[in-house]
Amino acid sequence: MSKFILLILLVSLVLVSPVLFAASETDQSCFSCHSLEYAQWRLSPHNIAQKAVSCTTCHHEHNGDGPAGLRLARSELCASCHADDPQYRLLVGTGQSAHNTEGSCVTCHMAVTPGRITVGGHTVLMQDTSGRKNVAACTPCHEEVWDFNLNNRQQEIAERLTWLQQHLPPEDSWALEVYRFIKEDGSLGVHNPEYAVKLLIEATASVGAPEWISRPAAELPQEDDICLTCKW
Ligand code: HEC
Ligand code: HEC
Ligand code: HEC
Ligand code: HEC
Ligand code: HEC
Repeated sequence: MSKFILLILLVSLVLVSPVLFAASETDQSCFSCHSLEYAQWRLSPHNIAQKAVSCTTCHHEHNGDGPAGLRLARSELCASCHADDPQYRLLVGTGQSAHNTEGSCVTCHMAVTPGRITVGGHTVLMQDTSGRKNVAACTPCHEEVWDFNLNNRQQEIAERLTWLQQHLPPEDSWALEVYRFIKEDGSLGVHNPEYAVKLLIEATASVGAPEWISRPAAELPQEDDICLTCKW
């Protein structure tokens, strides 16, 4: 092959496959022995061209010999980068969330559904591009989970957000902060259902809407009336 063709190949590889170049050589070496983790990581939001969060960001280096344990405990690993994000702030919330376990984000985002590689594990995704949800993350603690809308909580939170958005005062307010916080969290309250509902009720009260404050989830519009998966 001439040098020219090689160059073209190389350039097009760089252009079409930032994926390949997001991983360092060390990380690509992990592939030979851990192809599943590598394949999942490639689907993950951590596979980014600039400053990839790669195998050795989270694991000690190893080559099959000796342990390749985590650089930080599971409770600290994800928080070491995501502590300022709304998801972490909501999860820790009042400090008492049932979902704020020792495994923290890993418990749900890395839960594994056997035979399904597009969610959970090293994808760290709760939902894949075709909308399949990793409910395996919930079944250790909740029975009969088909989606994340347990006890209609996500639906309730979606409704409360919509209402709040429509009634926000024009000027900056605490209610606006709450609205943004819960909206940007992106889990429709799953990270801390109780706290999310509490904040929304207080924010609703602060803009004045007594009938909405204590309305039970069961009375809210049914699933068909609302798009739970729509991005806000
Ligand atoms: C964002 C941090 C992070 C990155 C990046 C990461 N891992 Fe992991 N890895 C973990 C955590 C956390 C566990 C433990 C999972 C658990 O306890 O459920 C783990 C577990 C593993 C395991 C044990 C088996 C398993 O799947 O639980 C292997 C093997 C592994 N990782 C390989 C890799 C390889 C190879 C890469 C790069 C392609 C990689 N990891 C990238 C965090 C990470
Ligand atoms: C030459 C093959 C080989 C390479 C290369 C390799 N590993 Fe491993 N790895 C293994 C074997 C073998 C085990 C132990 C088998 C088992 O318990 O599943 C293991 C276990 C692990 C575990 C499980 C936790 C533990 O310590 O027992 C993690 C995490 C891991 N490797 C990460 C990595 C990462 C990250 C890389 C790249 C830096 C890597 N491995 C490169 C062969 C390899
Ligand atoms: C070394 C820093 C670092 C670590 C450690 C880390 N992440 Fe990330 N994470 C990032 C970056 C950078 C992005 C992509 C940019 C962004 O959206 O913030 C990202 C993106 C994500 C996203 C998608 C964010 C979105 O808005 O869609 C999720 C989910 C995620 N990480 C989960 C985890 C989990 C779970 C862990 C622990 C196993 C973890 N991360 C550990 C840096 C990190
Ligand atoms: C109790 C399980 C659980 C825990 C623990 C958890 N998450 Fe989530 N997370 C979810 C669910 C469910 C969603 C909603 C996913 C969906 O509907 O696509 C979500 C959504 C997200 C999103 C939005 C993804 C997107 O597509 O916009 C990010 C980012 C995220 N979580 C990060 C984290 C981080 C960081 C932690 C740890 C601080 C964490 N999560 C802990 C269950 C959990
Ligand atoms: C480590 C155990 C554990 C895991 C894993 C877990 N949950 Fe929970 N969850 C709880 C506990 C405990 C409560 C509080 C008691 C209750 O309401 O059942 C709770 C409460 C909830 C609530 C509020 C219910 C209500 O009626 O107010 C929702 C919604 C919820 N979880 C959704 C999820 C989803 C979705 C997942 C998976 C992505 C998940 N949980 C994973 C333990 C867990």
